[in-house]
Amino acid sequence: MKEVSIDELKRRFQEKIDKDIKIEPKDWMPDDYRQTLIRQISQHAHSEIVGMLPEGNWITRAPNLRRKAVLLAKVQDEAGHGLYLYSAAETLGADREETIDDLHTGKAKYSSIFNYPTLTWADMGAIGWLVDGAAIMNQVPLCRCSYGPYARAMVRVCKEESFHQRQGFEIMTTLAKGTPEQKAMAQDALNRFWWPALMMFGPNDADSKHTEQSMRWKIKRHTNDELRQQFVDVTVPQAEMIGLTVPDKDMKFNEATGHYEHGPINWDEFWEVVKGNGPCNKDRIDVRRSAKEKGEWVREAANAYAEKRARRKSA
Ligand code: 3HC
Repeated sequence: MKEVSIDELKRRFQEKIDKDIKIEPKDWMPDDYRQTLIRQISQHAHSEIVGMLPEGNWITRAPNLRRKAVLLAKVQDEAGHGLYLYSAAETLGADREETIDDLHTGKAKYSSIFNYPTLTWADMGAIGWLVDGAAIMNQVPLCRCSYGPYARAMVRVCKEESFHQRQGFEIMTTLAKGTPEQKAMAQDALNRFWWPALMMFGPNDADSKHTEQSMRWKIKRHTNDELRQQFVDVTVPQAEMIGLTVPDKDMKFNEATGHYEHGPINWDEFWEVVKGNGPCNKDRIDVRRSAKEKGEWVREAANAYAEKRARRKSA
């Protein structure tokens, strides 16, 4: 059979992308497409798993059984999202153990937002409302990502994110309409999580090293700034509706464009947190390392059982 050149393979690949034909695990793909997907999907998975920690901190301290049950369900959902995404990364040839070790050694990133402490119950509301709200903005377009397994994983994830965002906004609404102390607690949580939530979308497009290529490959369907703007336009009216104030003295609505214009983001803070110097970075990774060590016996038992079943089958 006639050898097909790499350039021809790349041309055919991009033609499929341009025609919105999904790329599947067994399809030919440029190695840098594969590598950027492994990078993004594995870091997305890490974000889900590390994202369980700030909220897990409040499961035993939820104000009532209903809130505890809802928070427990949400944290369990995040674990499932992480496993879904680790599996999607494996379809690209990523090794699960190596992927998780990359998180523990600091080689791989996870979302900056999870390096902030959760100090009050209102933070559970702010995280659901703002963090999962931002995650929805970013993950809905990923349902149309060019890589099939990632796009399909996102469909399931987004259905659950909507519940996460609604329960968070309900907590904030309840507190904002409660006693003055409860409203103050909700406002304090908004003050502490607003700017880190805007940072979740990544650096400005001009400073994003991956956006241009990821848009060409239809991994990203919108840029970081476009999604951030969508989030701000939706969330500022929600805050106003429940009587809370977004902590941005420069925030204003531009009648001509129909968009809110927010003040400058502290990108020094963002990059410090991404580099590992946030309030909780060390604690989060220590907990994940400890979980892996304590879970060693479970993996050993599961492997022993799998090997015994395999031996029985081949006997
Ligand atoms: N936190 C940590 N690192 C970040 C970041 C953030 N908020 N935003 C960007 N970065 C990193 C990027 O990973 C990249 O570093 P790398 O090359 O070492 O990976 C660098 O900063 C440059 O940023 P780019 O914008 O060029 O990188 P991307 O094109 O990958 O865009 C992204 C960043 C928008 C986060 C994109 O990776 C993405 O859409 N990922 C999938 C969604 C995701 O991971 N969301 C995180 C939250 S998940 C969540 O909240 C779950 C909820 O249920 C709790």
